[in-house]
Formats: sequence, structure tokens, C-alpha cells
Amino acid sequence: MTHTRIVVTHYGGPDALQVLEEERPEPQRGEVRIKVLAAGVALPDVLAREGIHPETPRLPFTPGWDLIGVVDRLGDGVSAIEPGQIVAAMPISGAYAEFVCLPQPELVPVPAGLDPAEAVSLILNYITAYQMLHRSAKVRPGQRVLIHGAAGGVGTALLQLGRLSGLEMYGTCSSPGASAVSDLGGIPIDYKNQDFVKEIRRLTREGVDVVFDGIGGNNLWRSREALRPGGKVIVYGFTSRLQGGRLASGGSGRRHRFREAAILASYIARSWFMPGGKRMTPYSIQTLKRLKPAWFRKDLLALFDLLQQQKIKPLIAQRLPLSMARSAHELLGKGGVIGKIVLVPALEGAAKQSFG
Ligand SMILES: NC(=O)c1ccc[n+]([C@@H]2O[C@H](COP(=O)([O-])OP(=O)(O)OC[C@H]3O[C@@H](n4cnc5c(N)ncnc54)[C@H](OP(=O)(O)O)[C@@H]3O)[C@@H](O)[C@H]2O)c1
Repeated sequence: MTHTRIVVTHYGGPDALQVLEEERPEPQRGEVRIKVLAAGVALPDVLAREGIHPETPRLPFTPGWDLIGVVDRLGDGVSAIEPGQIVAAMPISGAYAEFVCLPQPELVPVPAGLDPAEAVSLILNYITAYQMLHRSAKVRPGQRVLIHGAAGGVGTALLQLGRLSGLEMYGTCSSPGASAVSDLGGIPIDYKNQDFVKEIRRLTREGVDVVFDGIGGNNLWRSREALRPGGKVIVYGFTSRLQGGRLASGGSGRRHRFREAAILASYIARSWFMPGGKRMTPYSIQTLKRLKPAWFRKDLLALFDLLQQQKIKPLIAQRLPLSMARSAHELLGKGGVIGKIVLVPALEGAAKQSFG
């Protein structure tokens, strides 16, 4: 039996994503084969496609950080899990496929009745947001925070979880995202037409307690300026390296896994020697998962619980069939996407009908 899988054939633009039809993978000893119900699309996939994310695999590779799926077949030695069970996983790469084989310990059970597209949004985006809020920044009710990219995947998750924690929130976004940011309880700042540091000073006088900065580069210094004395910037990405979804510096077509992390580290180190008692603290979901796998599981289960209680509601920008992975990357690269793009393999049949 065959299945569809997306592969990146070279480091570069969305044309690097090819649709492959091949035999379904067989689970090895200790592995479980999962039929994917929803795979998340996120900026880290775009950065890996360009070859600059620290987790970029060697070519050819299948992108896809996170998935929700149904257990389909068990490898030898697997017990305590049944075909038909719904599970979540964060393989970091490989989720853009109809079938995926993963080691059993990687799987987290998903409560019944959740929408797979909403549930998959909780894995990369909401765990990142939750852990940055509660494990890195350790926010307290009433604190002021500035969220960059507030209408995006991680940004909307920070807003929803920040509201539950009673934070006063400001969010940078381009104009199409402003109403989503205010609906989620944030005060939007149009970073394309306003100086966000001046706006934060005007609105708060002394500055914010925490800035969540996934933009990186020189934006980090500006984020630092928006802090009150003693505040901190949580540094977690480098969106500024992209322009229109491609490398802003022009594509090299090579794999540079350590360069961005080294650049971020140099910013953080420089900030230690600057006055004002302001800190820059890095956050990485994959590093924390490797160091504290129990936190990852616990935090994901807490988020599933919040979703079941309807205390959070991920914004789904688009649900697309797997074969439209390239369009998904093009959309994300263009900007202005509000919330999360999700690939839904089951939409394939409908897509084949409507696109001939
Ligand atoms: N460290 C970790 O563990 C971790 C985990 C997940 C994600 N990340 C990182 O987090 C970042 C966001 O990921 P995502 O998947 O949420 O991306 P996303 O959904 O594309 O959201 C990014 C948002 O940033 C906005 N934006 C772009 N340039 C901006 C600027 N200069 N100032 C303010 N906003 C700007 C974009 O909107 P407009 O262009 O329309 O303004 C977009 O809404 C990426 O760098 C990603 O690699 C890190």
C-alpha cells in the first residue's frame, strides 16, 4: 500500500517541497505506525527548508514538527497502546506525511473529541508559549508583556495563555492582524508604521516586565529598550532572517545549523555587559524537551485540558491537503497569516476532486 509524503529536495524556496508517492513505512521494533490526521506548518519548517534552523536535517528530508494521528500498526515489543488510539507527537521533522513511524515513548495520548487541527496547534506553538510564560519568564498576574509577531502561531498562543494569567499585553503585528490581537486581549502595535519602543513608552511610561522576541537580530536591542529596569527579553527565534519567506541575505542553498544559534548567543552575551539590570534569556522547545521530557508531556496534557474546557481556542488560518504543502509555505512566507496553517491529509480526496 502506498502513501503520500512531502520531501525537501534542496535547501531553498518553496519549490524545494516535492510530493512523493511511496510504500507505507513499516514500524520497527518499539515503534508505532501513525496515520496522520493533522500536521502543523510553522516558521521553523520554513527555516529548516532554507537550511538555517538548528534542527535542519540532512537532505532529502520530510518537514513537520508536530502531528496528531491515529495509531495504525504496532511494531514488535510495543504494548499498552492500541490501534485506533489518538496520539500527539513532536518528531521535529517528518510530520508532512500520511503515515509516520515513531518510537512509542514519543507519543502522548490525546483526549477524545478534540479537533485534530486545533489539537496539533497546541504542540509546537502552545507548548512554546506556555513554557516561555511559566517556566522561563515565570509571569505573575498584572505584569506587562510585549509579544512580537502577536498575530502569528506562537503569538496568538501567547495572547490566549497570557490572558488566562491576567497579564497586561501589547502585541506587534502588521495591520491585518490588529483586530485578532485586540480580540485576544492585546493592544496592537503596527510595527510597520509605528516605532514599538516609543509606543510602549507612551503607553506604559516605564516599560514592560517581559518581551517575547521571536524576531531576533537588531530587534533584540529594541526589545531590550522596551523593558523596565530589571525586566527580561525571552529570545526564541529569528524571523528577521527571512524576507518574503526566503533568506533575507539571499539563499546560499547550504545547511547552516549552528550559525543562528551562535549569533543569538552573541547578542545574549553582549547584553550581560550592558547597564540596567535587563536580561536576555534564550528559550528552545527542543532543548527543554531533551532536558526535561516529563515537562513536555505534563505541559501538553495541561494544554489539552484547557482546550477541552474551551479556555483556549487555537486560531486556524487554513486547513490544506498534504499535497499543498508548498502553498502553505508560500502563504506563511508572504506574512499576514493569522494563527496556524495545518495540513490535513484527509482533505486530499476533496482537493483532487476540486483541482481536477
Ligand atoms: N525557540 C522555540 O522553541 C521556538 C518554537 C516555535 C517557534 N519558534 C520561532 O518563533 C518564531 C515565530 O514562529 P511562528 O511559527 O509563530 O511564525 P508565524 O506564525 O509566521 O508568526 C510570525 C509572525 O511574525 C510577524 N512578523 C514578521 N516580522 C515581524 C517583525 N519585525 N516584528 C513583529 N512581527 C513580525 C508575522 O506577521 P506579519 O508579517 O504579517 O507582520 C507573523 O505574524 C519563528 O522565528 C520560529 O522559528 C521558536
